[in-house]
Amino acid sequence: MLDTASNRPELPSEIARRRTFAIISHPDAGKTTLTEKFLLYGGAIQMAGQVRAKGEARRTRSDFMQMEKDRGISVSASAMSFDYGTFRFNLVDTPGHSDFSEDTYRTLTAVDAAVMVIDGAKGVESQTQKLFEVCRLRDLPILTFCNKMDRESREIFDIIDEIQENLAIDVTPASWPIGVGRDFVGTYDILHDRLELMDRADRNKVAESIEINGLDDPKLAEHVPAHLLETFLEELEMARELLPALDRQALLDGTMTPIWFGSAINSFGVKELMDGIANFGPEPQVQVAQPRDIAPEEKKVAGFVFKVQANMDPKHRDRVAFVRMASGHFKRGMKLTHVRTKKPMAISNPVLFLASDRELAEEAWAGDIIGIPNHGQLRIGDTLTEGEALRVSGIPSFAPELLQSVRAGDPLKSKHLEKALMQFAEEGAAKVFKPSVGSGFIVGVVGPLQFEVLASRIEMEYGLPVRFEQSQFTSARWVAGDKQAIDKFTAANSQHIAHDHDGDIVYLTRLKWDIDRVERDYPDLKLTSTKEMM
Ligand code: G4P
Repeated sequence: MLDTASNRPELPSEIARRRTFAIISHPDAGKTTLTEKFLLYGGAIQMAGQVRAKGEARRTRSDFMQMEKDRGISVSASAMSFDYGTFRFNLVDTPGHSDFSEDTYRTLTAVDAAVMVIDGAKGVESQTQKLFEVCRLRDLPILTFCNKMDRESREIFDIIDEIQENLAIDVTPASWPIGVGRDFVGTYDILHDRLELMDRADRNKVAESIEINGLDDPKLAEHVPAHLLETFLEELEMARELLPALDRQALLDGTMTPIWFGSAINSFGVKELMDGIANFGPEPQVQVAQPRDIAPEEKKVAGFVFKVQANMDPKHRDRVAFVRMASGHFKRGMKLTHVRTKKPMAISNPVLFLASDRELAEEAWAGDIIGIPNHGQLRIGDTLTEGEALRVSGIPSFAPELLQSVRAGDPLKSKHLEKALMQFAEEGAAKVFKPSVGSGFIVGVVGPLQFEVLASRIEMEYGLPVRFEQSQFTSARWVAGDKQAIDKFTAANSQHIAHDHDGDIVYLTRLKWDIDRVERDYPDLKLTSTKEMM
């Protein structure tokens, strides 16, 4: 099935055919358009426009609110499964805005690869850089799509240099563009020696593909205008000399990225990219866990929660935990062990997310993403197994960078507020701290937009207007150390101590200097800015 060697040859074919990945990009580079074309070629939607019409996370505040209102829709776009040839693609959506980076980070723990989309006119933009660095932390294989080649773009060698330098990764061209801007006629598929010609008249038409037998093949001159041919041949020769050839192992190690050039809106280059994901992208990989790692080919089922989405339907207060299957062959109705609480859970209504719909998942294999509706038992970082006490690790929670106190508009409803806040904390949408002195809550987020989204969700989902106000605290750190040292520290600093929603102790600072002071005065303690979720 694969035309390249597998790095996990022992995988059953059902698992080996799965490709689970996310798309990372800077807003406007074309992620939505590309996703839509993926779904189109995967047969998951019938016509272009369906994804866009549903409104992927748009950039303005009001659009975010709207997105939150359309939760059913934005959620069904959180994970999408579709077949491509003999492959099963699981595309996991990453929130586009930088304010949601923690959520993005966790999403990236659930995939085996990322597709990085860049705009040919802009190159590596700030958000691409940030997301890339997150991928790098996990050595995630990355495939690159340079989009919007139908418009004026930057020099191709400049774009490649920029990726190599800014992202410190080797780049290998999988295709090479012919002409730029208005003159762009298509690409040369370096991996298969084919000429791909773009049809400007029909955006949904797949490119015409012409086999080429070496660069002296007269067919090249028949199809490529003479004024473009010479430059193209020169560039291709230079590219072959200066840039490394595709090495699948280096791609799998995350040290080399193949780059395809195309135009998502013109459906151009998309199939080649999909073929690349299928043929060179990784199969489901080993998940790092404690006390031992989980291999996808293991017979027994294991999976972990990387995202929780609550109140998809506010009338029912439902919650869906998104579970990445780590091993085995799951069948609907199975009883799995919820490792954190050691309780059995019958998984009777798991859902599979198809592009525009969700349906009952009768089965799932390692690599798949399923949704498990639940009443709050499942939290981010939880592992489900067939009995063994395994915990998938590496799903962190970051200390918030912004803190505000929150008050219910109606003081009689403070119990409701507590419930709502706990719910968002479990969903991972915010950190909620209960100070040990005084009443009320401190809410922590990574980006300011999250306060607005939270306020709007609390009002919408709980009918409770709230006010966020300036807090006296500026940052938070988890406190670790032996019990005696912690007790002594918390007793002496009670004004600064709070508990998070898991009951873990947190030190709230007023000044950056506070942290240095604690570290100096309490050498037995550790203040940490990340905590593993489990
Ligand atoms: P995003 O999800 O990464 O934010 O990007 P999105 O797909 O929404 O694309 C951003 C804009 O770029 C859209 O235009 C889209 O039509 C356009 N675009 C995407 N791919 C290409 C391409 O290959 N070539 C060209 N020329 N444009 C492309 P818009 O004006 O913001 O939206 P719309 O009016 O087209 O809906």
